[in-house]
Amino acid sequence: MSHLFSEFKLKNVKLRNRIAVPPMCQYRAENGLANEWHFSHYNTLARGGAGLVVVEATAVTPEGRITPACLGLWNDQQADELAKVAQGIKDAGAVAGIQIAHAGRKANAHRPWEGDDHIASDDERFWPSIAPSAVAFGHHLPRVPQEMSINDIERVKQGFVDAAKRALDAGFEWLELHFAHGYLAQSFFSKHSNHRTDQYGGSFEGRSRFLIETLQAVRKVWPEHLPLTARFGVVEYDGQDEETLAESIQLIQQFKKNGLDLLSVSVGFTIAETNIPWGDGFLGEIAGRVRKETGLPVASAWGFAKAEVAENALETQQLDLVMIGRAMLANPHYPYALAQQLNVDKPSWVLPAPYAHWLERYAI
Ligand SMILES: Cc1cc2nc3c(=O)[nH]c(=O)nc-3n(C[C@H](O)[C@H](O)[C@H](O)COP(=O)(O)O)c2cc1C
Repeated sequence: MSHLFSEFKLKNVKLRNRIAVPPMCQYRAENGLANEWHFSHYNTLARGGAGLVVVEATAVTPEGRITPACLGLWNDQQADELAKVAQGIKDAGAVAGIQIAHAGRKANAHRPWEGDDHIASDDERFWPSIAPSAVAFGHHLPRVPQEMSINDIERVKQGFVDAAKRALDAGFEWLELHFAHGYLAQSFFSKHSNHRTDQYGGSFEGRSRFLIETLQAVRKVWPEHLPLTARFGVVEYDGQDEETLAESIQLIQQFKKNGLDLLSVSVGFTIAETNIPWGDGFLGEIAGRVRKETGLPVASAWGFAKAEVAENALETQQLDLVMIGRAMLANPHYPYALAQQLNVDKPSWVLPAPYAHWLERYAI
């Protein structure tokens, strides 16, 4: 029996299989509003047969957008448009998830295909960026952010809470806090980017505080019966990986105590100079260690798309859920190909009936 095509239950939510589409920014929004692009994009991904579709990084405050074309959830109109996206995912049989985010010092950049670098201060699309400390990411994002005041910290935490409430009202059933990829939360945890001397910096406890308090505040408004998850970079591949991983595992244990239901294991991306061992399922072993040492269910992305890689990660209990991104962009019906390769009984039935009926008779 295929592990990938077995059901997965978390809290009151059941996924039809263990294929999850991870959040992937589309850079197609105006004023943070979802539109026809987002509706058809996410509906198509869900039709392809994935069990879970997580909507891209959606900013909790205007200055928390990576680019001016990123989605937002800081007002009700944005929630109304996202409700259509959530409904489209659910109508296609998948669970609708959303990642809520603040980009911190990586905010206010051009779209990847327009340079990926910071927008110039004399451009009308410019806004100032904020971060735990006035330390730039460097490389293509050289702007020095403003150090956040305690008021800023409170405002952004409240932004996460309000966005979580709106996500719930919009019909999402799976919430992912973006604590990864060098964005605001990850940059609070990393010594590379957090040089604060107050209660939000310094020791492990200080650097964890923003993440734990945000989680605690969101858990209060996100219902117990629905999964509350986070994406977090557990290593940086900066040569200090054992130390970082040990601290990360300690933090994830705290996440668990504070009501987190699943962790999506990723890379920190807090600094540009790293030595990441890109390759098929390269995070599998680390994810397995996080799973074993914290007892939390885990997901991961980055190179798990091949059938044998995905199946192996589940079989060896490295992962509970496999996130497949770029392969789904290339072919939203990719789960059908996986089902064929894994000799699933009636593979075409991962697709909607109007497709499945014909492919069952005349398989391609
Ligand atoms: C176009 C694109 C946009 C992405 N946007 C996000 C995002 O919004 N949030 C996030 O956590 N990761 C984002 N990522 C990373 C993906 O979630 C995923 O980790 C990555 O594509 C690796 O998985 P894959 O090898 O299956 O493609 C993005 C990746 C791509 C290709």
